[in-house]
Amino acid sequence: MTKTENQTNRAVFTTRLGAIATTVGSAVGLGNIWRFPYEAGTHGGGAFMLFYVVFIFLIGVPVLCSEFILGRSTRSNVFGALRKLAPAGKWHLVGYLGILSSLMILSFYSVIAGWTMEYCFQSAAGALDFASESEYHAHFDSFSSGNWRPVMWTVIFLLCNLLIVVRGVTKGIEKASNILTPLLFLMLLVFCVNSLMMPKAAEGLQFLFKPDFSKIDSGVILGALGQAFFTLSLGLGCMLTYGSYFNDRTRIGRSAMMTATLDTAVAILAGIIIFPAVFSFGMSPEAGPTLVFEVLPAIFHQLPGGVLWSAFFFFLLFLASLTSTISMSETNISFFVEECQMSRRKATFVSTSIVMFFGILCTLSFGCMSDVTIMGKTVFGLFDYATSNIFLPVGGFVFSIFVGWFLERRYLKTQMTNFGTVRFKPLPLLVFCLRYVCPVAILLVFLNSIGVI
Ligand code: PHE
Repeated sequence: MTKTENQTNRAVFTTRLGAIATTVGSAVGLGNIWRFPYEAGTHGGGAFMLFYVVFIFLIGVPVLCSEFILGRSTRSNVFGALRKLAPAGKWHLVGYLGILSSLMILSFYSVIAGWTMEYCFQSAAGALDFASESEYHAHFDSFSSGNWRPVMWTVIFLLCNLLIVVRGVTKGIEKASNILTPLLFLMLLVFCVNSLMMPKAAEGLQFLFKPDFSKIDSGVILGALGQAFFTLSLGLGCMLTYGSYFNDRTRIGRSAMMTATLDTAVAILAGIIIFPAVFSFGMSPEAGPTLVFEVLPAIFHQLPGGVLWSAFFFFLLFLASLTSTISMSETNISFFVEECQMSRRKATFVSTSIVMFFGILCTLSFGCMSDVTIMGKTVFGLFDYATSNIFLPVGGFVFSIFVGWFLERRYLKTQMTNFGTVRFKPLPLLVFCLRYVCPVAILLVFLNSIGVI
């Protein structure tokens, strides 16, 4: 038991690997393998990629540090943290946005996680065996636009999530994350090599890595910012909550850098797998949210033992989604438990019920509710867009201002150096980023996207 655990009676990750593996587990998920390729595909490839990588390291890493600092130093959820540090201020109100975001993301995320479960079963049953790419497209379309099967999977996925979350932090989550992420990574490497040998690999790589500056517009820049926040699980207090379970020896700067690097590596690997295949198969990179579900099965089909690869990959993707949804659930459950004095069990049921309701609406956005639009977007589209592109960056904006301007530099130093026991040289850089770079950049992207600049 650590010192902190004695003092506050709150759970702490038992090992350093546990802390890293869980934050990476939260970050790596559908955001990398499903969302990144589809966002890059619809936003012109290289141009998007350029902004995305810059935002990850310039904004993502500092904001990640700020969440870890807030979480570990207060050992609280997002509300408690901001209230402890600024009792008289209104900073903690950003927590409501965080809770709302986590419930909304969980709702649409479960839809895609449900799709991965369906495809895992279909692969294993040998039902994904088609001769042409257009058949893969038609097959996915008929599944996702159906009404009961996708809903069933969304519900099953949420029940799996519930079962793990209700058991508590260290037990369920740590165990799952430790084995899973490395395995997923290895598999991606194998697929990567395969894609690089495809006939139009060069064209795919060029699309992904060579920025076409004529494609840059406000949508590309906002999309890249949103993707950076989404993929690092930033801006809603999720990493703050995980930071609150860090022990006093966990090095915040290193953990943030490691999380961002591994997460970006996974996204880039996914891109290297998808785009050479998209071009080689003569598909369109602009298919949107369904992209990877049409391309991946076609890739697996070409591999010897494709059925096994496919089933195993979708199974791993399902597990990777679980470690991400667990972290989102943890954000709102720790709020219900600590702020609303609910039992963990009750909090889990309340959160799951809300998400299940909206999750079903999101699922039906591809089926019988595809005509129901709000501001030109389906419920699914709206939840995805509003959370990633608006709510999460707003959260990140507030965290960076709070930590950069409101907290004393000494406070930051104590956390970044683990109470003076280790060195952290880039402190001035971190402070500079939190004070100026992050808030100004986020503001500029917003102003640009509403046409002010
Ligand atoms: N980062 C996760 C992913 O890439 C999604 C996520 C967003 C998780 C927000 C938690 C909070 O899949």
